[in-house]
Order: sequence, then C-alpha cells, then structure tokens
Amino acid sequence: MINKIGIVGGGNIGGVLAAEIVSRRLARNVALVDVKGPDLAAGKCLDIAEAMPVYGSDVNIVGAKTYDILTGCDFVINTAGVPRAMRPDGTFPSREELLAINLQITDLVADGINEFAPGAFVISIANPLDAIVYRLFKKLKANPARIMGMAGVLDSARYKYFVATAAGVSVENVEAVVLGGHGDTMVPIRSACRIYGLPVEQFVDAKALDAIEDRTRNAGGEVVKLLGSGSAFVSPAISALEMVEAIAFDKKKIVPVCALLQGQYGVDGLFVGVPCILGKGGIEKIIEITLTPAEAEALKKSVDAVRKTCAEVDAAK
Ligand code: APR
Repeated sequence: MINKIGIVGGGNIGGVLAAEIVSRRLARNVALVDVKGPDLAAGKCLDIAEAMPVYGSDVNIVGAKTYDILTGCDFVINTAGVPRAMRPDGTFPSREELLAINLQITDLVADGINEFAPGAFVISIANPLDAIVYRLFKKLKANPARIMGMAGVLDSARYKYFVATAAGVSVENVEAVVLGGHGDTMVPIRSACRIYGLPVEQFVDAKALDAIEDRTRNAGGEVVKLLGSGSAFVSPAISALEMVEAIAFDKKKIVPVCALLQGQYGVDGLFVGVPCILGKGGIEKIIEITLTPAEAEALKKSVDAVRKTCAEVDAAK
C-alpha cells in the first residue's frame, strides 16, 4: 500500500482519481488540492469519505485550497488546468490552445510541489500534455525518472478498444500502443498491434484500421464534442493509476509514458510518449522499438509538433 497520494485539481479527473484510490485502497492517505469555490476539494473529499463505510475502505482523505496538505506525498498527480470545452461560437479549442492559461496554473502547481512534496513522483495529466510536463520539469528541477505525463496509456486504450470492437474480440486480447505527442499528430503503431499475439491485419482490414487510427488520433475531441462542456475524465484517471501501480508495486511494466528523451529516438530535451519500463525507480528504461519508415516519419512529425509547443513554453518564461 502506498503511504500518500496527492492530487492537484479536484475537478472531473481529480474527483474520479480520489474515489478510485479509496475504492482500491491504493493509499493510506489521499490529499486533494483545488483552489475553486468555497472549498471544492474539501467537499469532494467529504463526499468520498462518507461513502467509505459502503466501500469498506479506511483511507485518510483530506481536501483543501492550500498545497501544504501535500506534505509527505509519495506521488502527486497533476490535473489542474482548464479542459477543452465548446466556445460560445460552437467551435472547440485544440489542446494546444489551452497552453497560455494552463501554463500559469502549472507554475503555481510547481511552486506547491517544490515547497511541500519535492521528492514525490509526479504524473501530470493537464493539457497540452507534453508541454505542461516539460514546464513542470523545468520548474521542479526533478530527477527525470520521477516526472512523467499520462497520455500514452489512454491513447493506447482507446486504440485497443476500437480494434477490439472492430475485430469482435475481448479488449483483453488486444495489444496496441500509441506513441508521440498527445495531440492530433499522435502515432498509433500498427506494426506493434496484435490480437492474441497475431498481427492485427489478420482480424481487421487495412481500410478499417486506417479509420480506427484516425478515430484514435481524434478520440479526445470526439468525447469533448459529445459532452459539450469539459473533456474525458474517467479514462484519463484510470490510466494514470495504471502508472502509479506499476511504480508503487515495482511491476517493471512496459507502458507508453510521456518521458524526457535524452537522445532516444533521435530526440533530446523534449517530453514525448514512448514505451518505458515503470518500476520502483519510476521510468527505469526507455525502450526504443523498431518502427516502419512511415511510422518513424509520423513520429518525427509528432515530435516536431511537441517541439513547437515547447518553444512557446520557453518563450512564455
Ligand atoms: N491549483 C489547484 N487546482 C487548480 C488550480 C490551481 N492553481 N487551478 C485550477 N485548478 C483546478 C480547477 O479549479 C478545477 O477544479 O483544476 C480543476 C480542473 O478540473 P476540471 O475543470 O474538471 O478539468 P478536468 O476534466 O479534471 O481536466 C483537467 O486534464 O485532461 C486534462 O484537458 C484537461 O487540462 C485539463 C486537465
């Protein structure tokens, strides 16, 4: 059992995270920080705590508007930020368009972590994902093995779900991975997609796979449009916990993680989604997989998009 997990941002994702941690009895202590309302975080925590007799779970859960409650956290999961929502004119912003507002919030989050939980593993979910993790890393000056973004687990889960549905098999039979930035340039890796260990093309034809990969790249936006306000929140929360569990239980599990590249895949100094071994040291190894020329080209384009957003981060200071 983990001693303490901190969650920054008690909105849709933060709320699911807190409830799920209690339900799984994953940590002895949970601390939820949110600056909103009279005390949104305290309210969410009270709601969850009052369900504990029904869950049959004894977790010490506290919410507050201040970051001091993060003291002693082993993990901090960052969900603080504005999600994508419909504009008054009916259009939707891209994740990148959230950058300016979410950067300001991220700097406050970094200050809070620096002051109260400097040694914690940090898993960030706020968008634009790759740029926010980059900013957090610069502000936290943390060991890069201990700071990462959650995107690939979710993007890969979406890819797996679509493939499983098209093939008419269990999601448990599908292995699939999506690499690159967490934007419309993300790269579903068809050459690594398997159903029951067999190439996916034996079950789903190439045309259908093209459509599935397109849907995967735009899956976040599909949910945003259906919801009308806000973005996906159950799947991102559950995906982040997959990473927490891999680290806390030293699973040595290979999952796609938004990790700092230091020469791998020919990239230096950017956070990009790549397969990593997660264990008690955090990101213990970045795995370089062989891509087809088309996949390698698509990954390069995706990295270029991440680089462009990170240049804006640097310019914002
Ligand atoms: N400190 C703590 N919490 C903050 C701060 C801050 N400085 N600034 C904003 N928040 C809180 C908001 O008050 C809000 O309750 O972050 C919360 C975000 O919750 P939601 O608006 O419900 O957004 P959510 O769907 O949870 O998504 C959060 O993750 O997937 C991304 O694009 C999404 O960037 C968004 C983030």
